Amino acid sequence: MFRLVLLGPPGAGKGTQAVKIAEKYQIPHISTGDIFRKNVKEGTPLGKKAKEYMDKGELVPDKLVVELVTDRLDAADCKNGFLLDGFPRTVFQAEKLDQYLEVKGIALDKVIDISGDEEVLLERMIGRRVCRACGAPYHIKNMPPKEEGICDICGGEVYQRADDTEETVRNRFQVYQKQTMPLIAYYEKLANIIHIQSAGSPDTVFASIISVLGV
Ligand code: AP5
Ligand code: MG
Repeated sequence: MFRLVLLGPPGAGKGTQAVKIAEKYQIPHISTGDIFRKNVKEGTPLGKKAKEYMDKGELVPDKLVVELVTDRLDAADCKNGFLLDGFPRTVFQAEKLDQYLEVKGIALDKVIDISGDEEVLLERMIGRRVCRACGAPYHIKNMPPKEEGICDICGGEVYQRADDTEETVRNRFQVYQKQTMPLIAYYEKLANIIHIQSAGSPDTVFASIISVLGV
C-alpha cells in the first residue's frame, strides 16, 4: 500500500509513469489535470472556469482544486493508498493536503520528483496525443497508438491537448518554476522525496521508480 505524490515539470512523464505505478501497486491514479479536462469536455461550471486558466498555461486557482482532491481522497477506493499526479502544485495546496492527511491520521509514503531537460520535454509535449476517454498518453514519434487516432487501451479518440502549443508550454515551464518548484524544498524537509531523471525510455524511468518503492 502506498500514498504517493508525483511531482515534476510539464512533460516529465508523470501521467505515463502514473499509469504503470497505479497498475503495479493497485492504487487509484488521481490526476487533477485529467479531472479538469473531463470537466472541460462535459462543459460543467468547473470546466468552464478551469479552461480559462488551462488554455493560457496558468494554474487553476487553489480554491477550485483543494476541495476537489480532498473529496476524491474520501472515496472508498483510496482506503488502501493513492497516487496523486499534478497535485499539490503550490505550497498552499501542499499545506492543505498535509492538514487533510493529519486529520485522517495518515501520511504520504513518498513524493516522486521527476525532472528533465526543458527542450526535451518541450519536444515531448508538442508531439503528445492523449485519449479523450481514458487519458492515456501517446506521442506521435515515441509512442504512437497502434492505430492512428485510436486509443490502444479503450478505443477512445486520441487528440492533441489545447495547452500543448509551444507558446503555452513555455509559459507552463515558467509557472512550474515559480509556483511548483518550491515544493521540492518543502518535501525535502519532510525527508520523503525521491528524485528521478526522466531521461531514458518510460520503462527505464519506471524501473528507477520501483527500485525505490520496492517490488
Ligand atoms: P496537467 O495535466 O497536470 O499537466 P502538466 O503538469 O503540465 O503535465 P503534463 O500532463 O503536460 O505532463 P506529464 O508529466 O503528465 O507527461 P506525460 O506522461 O503526459 O495540468 C494541466 C493544467 O491543468 C495545468 O496547466 C493547470 O492549468 C491545471 N491544473 C492541473 N492540476 C492543477 C493543480 N493541482 N493546481 C492548479 N492547476 C492545476 O508525457 C508527456 C509526453 O512525453 C507524452 O507524449 C508521452 O508519451 C511522452 N513521454 C513520457 N515519458 C517519456 C519517456 N521516458 N521518453 C520519451 N517520451 C516520453
Ligand atoms: Mg499529465
